[in-house]
Amino acid sequence: MIPGELPKLPFIVKPFILYLFLSLSFLAFIYLQTPRHTFKKDPTNHSPDLKIRPGYSSYDVYIERQLNKTLNPKLRQIWTTRDWNRKVEVFSRFFDSLKQRKLLFNGSKALCVGARVGQEVAALKRIGVNDSVGIDLVPYPPLVLKGDFHHQPFDAETFDFEFSNVFDHALYPDKFVGEIERTLKPGGICVLHVALSRRADKYSANDLYSVKPLIELFKQSEVVKVRNVDGFGLDTEVVFRKNKNRNK
Ligand SMILES: C[S@@+](CC[C@H](N)C(=O)[O-])C[C@H]1O[C@@H](n2cnc3c(N)ncnc32)[C@H](O)[C@@H]1O
Repeated sequence: MIPGELPKLPFIVKPFILYLFLSLSFLAFIYLQTPRHTFKKDPTNHSPDLKIRPGYSSYDVYIERQLNKTLNPKLRQIWTTRDWNRKVEVFSRFFDSLKQRKLLFNGSKALCVGARVGQEVAALKRIGVNDSVGIDLVPYPPLVLKGDFHHQPFDAETFDFEFSNVFDHALYPDKFVGEIERTLKPGGICVLHVALSRRADKYSANDLYSVKPLIELFKQSEVVKVRNVDGFGLDTEVVFRKNKNRNK
């Protein structure tokens, strides 16, 4: 073989290379022509301090994951027995403190968003806020009704007070907040417990790194108070008041 000259390929290899080239070109063409069926994630531009977790390929996959834990019979047994009093007591203290700060009243019509078996609703009732109810994907009557917090099953301006410690489970944080603002009466109070300094559980759909994204999402409300709390792994309480003036 002369130096610099390519080795002579065996007769059979040439059609094989041609076949390989044509197949790859065809596959590349098909790939480029195929519309991408990716699940459209929350389209709003959040600040970098709020990140939607990857891996939820469809809304059904998201719901299935949430239900996986909430429907677990053994856990439901524990939540409704061994855990019950301890959680109701802690929630009662949080709500009592809100009452003392004139943010919650016995006459308030209250909603707990993502209330699971309803310990937080029981706590509200225990401290005298009798017109209280929760929503969750799985109902637990009479304390918790069935409802998706991305599309609350209530008319606009229904509640004086809404509480939630499940912001991290929202796949669409703008809808989660939009629904709270829609169903709150003008002047109504929303209290969120969120985790800022540690990552929430493996069922979370988003991660929050500061209160800034929350403040941006609550477009019809003002911040009343941000404080540290110790609430079942959640470290920050953020209180919003929906504007009284509808045009604001
Ligand atoms: C961490 S648990 C919190 C339960 C309760 N707030 C507590 O502290 O005991 C999260 C709850 O959010 C509910 N959840 C998740 N996604 C939801 C959705 N899209 N709509 C309503 N509830 C949802 C789950 O079913 C689960 O009960």
